[in-house]
Amino acid sequence: MGQAVANIQDFEHEIVGYPLRPGRDVWEDYLSDLRHRLTADKGVFLVAEANREIVGVLAGYAHKAGDCLVASEFDRSAYISDLFVQSERRRQGIGTALMREFERTMLAKGLHWMTVCIKSKNKTARQAYKNYGFEDYEVILTKRLL
Ligand SMILES: CC(C)(COP(=O)(O)OP(=O)(O)OC[C@H]1O[C@@H](n2cnc3c(N)ncnc32)[C@H](O)[C@@H]1OP(=O)(O)O)[C@@H](O)C(=O)NCCC(=O)NCCS
Repeated sequence: MGQAVANIQDFEHEIVGYPLRPGRDVWEDYLSDLRHRLTADKGVFLVAEANREIVGVLAGYAHKAGDCLVASEFDRSAYISDLFVQSERRRQGIGTALMREFERTMLAKGLHWMTVCIKSKNKTARQAYKNYGFEDYEVILTKRLL
């Protein structure tokens, strides 16, 4: 899993650049944080295998945003924190299969909405999520202070 975390980070680092840190510098801290989040609230860790090899992973859990302005069933959503498919295995439906299984599992756990946060420059992931049925909801804007 450490390798998967580093791979996702390096992939996003390549397309986004600053402020993302290289995978080798972050994977240990991220993994220990993820372990807590996965055990905290309906955590799910899915693995896709082919020929006894891990070709894709999805980690997610119930996330409460704590926003009193939205309906409570929306505020506590099934959040995809990590999704990664090995580069040579992409476009074969593995990402979609992982999302479908996550949706099925979280619906059975009583959740009604799925959320995911992606970097704007990650067009591939955006297309994959949109293809699955996700819609844009919120945008975070940033500007360096001058
Ligand atoms: C995003 C990701 C998980 C998709 O996994 P995948 O197994 O390739 O996805 P699927 O094969 O199920 O593709 C589903 C749909 O997404 C879209 N899609 C996927 N890759 C695409 C690409 N390179 N260009 C355009 N559309 C793409 C297509 O609509 C595709 O359906 P189609 O092949 O029938 O046209 C994979 O590209 C990946 O691991 N990316 C790096 C990590 C990452 O960005 N993770 C998401 C951040 S949380």
